[in-house]
Amino acid sequence: MLGFDDNYEVCNCKKVTISHLKDAIYNKNAQNLSDIQELTTAGTECRHCIFPEGDFGKIKKKIYCKDILKELKKD
Ligand code: FES
Repeated sequence: MLGFDDNYEVCNCKKVTISHLKDAIYNKNAQNLSDIQELTTAGTECRHCIFPEGDFGKIKKKIYCKDILKELKKD
């Protein structure tokens, strides 16, 4: 997945990995970022992991929920 392992933690606050996001998208029919937030709780605390425009952290995230959604929704 975009050069990251499935166990890479995308949302550090809620400890949500790429594998959790894949499950939400492939198995639980998440269609958009708000579905992802609801199903996995990713992005529901500091919210820096949702998309780059919302990343106000000192250390920027390497990958965002939005990137993963976009990538997985391609196929
Ligand atoms: S890193 Fe995802 S809500 Fe904070």
